[in-house]
Amino acid sequence: MITVFGATGNTGSSLVDTLLAKGLDVRAVTSNPSKLGPLKAKGCEAVTANFTDPTTLQSACAGANSIYLVTPAHRDMRQWKSNAIKAAQSAGVRHVVMGTGLGASPEARLTLGQWHSENQEELKQTGMDWTFVQPTYFMQNLLWQAGTIAKDGVYHDDLGGPVAWIDARDIADVAAEALTGSGYEGKALGLTGPEALTGEDIAAVLSEATGRSVTCAPLSADDSKAAMMAGGMHEEIAAAMIELASLAPKGYLAGIETTVSDVLGRPARRLRDFVAENRDAFVQ
Ligand SMILES: NC(=O)c1ccc[n+]([C@@H]2O[C@H](COP(=O)([O-])OP(=O)(O)OC[C@H]3O[C@@H](n4cnc5c(N)ncnc54)[C@H](OP(=O)(O)O)[C@@H]3O)[C@@H](O)[C@H]2O)c1
Repeated sequence: MITVFGATGNTGSSLVDTLLAKGLDVRAVTSNPSKLGPLKAKGCEAVTANFTDPTTLQSACAGANSIYLVTPAHRDMRQWKSNAIKAAQSAGVRHVVMGTGLGASPEARLTLGQWHSENQEELKQTGMDWTFVQPTYFMQNLLWQAGTIAKDGVYHDDLGGPVAWIDARDIADVAAEALTGSGYEGKALGLTGPEALTGEDIAAVLSEATGRSVTCAPLSADDSKAAMMAGGMHEEIAAAMIELASLAPKGYLAGIETTVSDVLGRPARRLRDFVAENRDAFVQ
């Protein structure tokens, strides 16, 4: 049995599909009882558990040989992951594949890198096998502004430099290999897409896919932070996101990792294909 936390999220939902397609027994975890039905309809076991409630986390891990652990970016994410790590350990889980972030390590200087690193180091100390899945920016983030792209023909660029965006489905496919293949224990898998693209590049891809003119409008750090907080993000996380984005103009988010093709034996998905597949969202 493989327990998948965050099973309705960007990476977890795709991971459930990939594991089921491989014919594996999957237990999908949601904190929201109304999502149990759709998860069960995929053909897996589905349970509720909350990262704030250790008892439910332990039930979700009971009988599982391995788990995928991811939480949303949240001010309490370190405690949430810690709760799940402890629950997995006490339930006798053998292998934890944990979603963190590119560059997370004890040497990381950024807030999110340090936070992810704390949980990575904690997991290493448990004696369970571990694999870290460390992605850069998800292409799925573009869907956050699909409405304004469709309505105004404007892509708001809060990065200001090239980024090697990755499709969350590739993260899930790599996580599936780590959970089911051999030789991934004790590895940190840095994950990017196949090319680094600027905001202007993305606007051009959106224009081509939609057949409409989409222009790129730079978004200042202050406006970006205000938009994130207006969307419900806590100030501390919004500040950490701004800190991360500040690396882009320096070119620090443009590096390409070959992990996706190394692990999967096929190229990483391209942003233009992601946009084409999601064209309806960008034209509405
Ligand atoms: N987005 C990016 O560009 C990016 C880049 C690098 C790293 N990351 C990292 O990737 C992680 C996010 O991964 P993701 O996008 O796959 O996750 P996600 O979609 O943000 O969230 C995963 C799921 O967590 C569940 N959840 C929320 N609160 C919960 C709670 N209290 N208890 C139990 N489950 C709860 C939600 O499902 P339910 O509502 O069904 O419970 C949600 O669908 C973060 O750690 C972030 O730092 C993100």
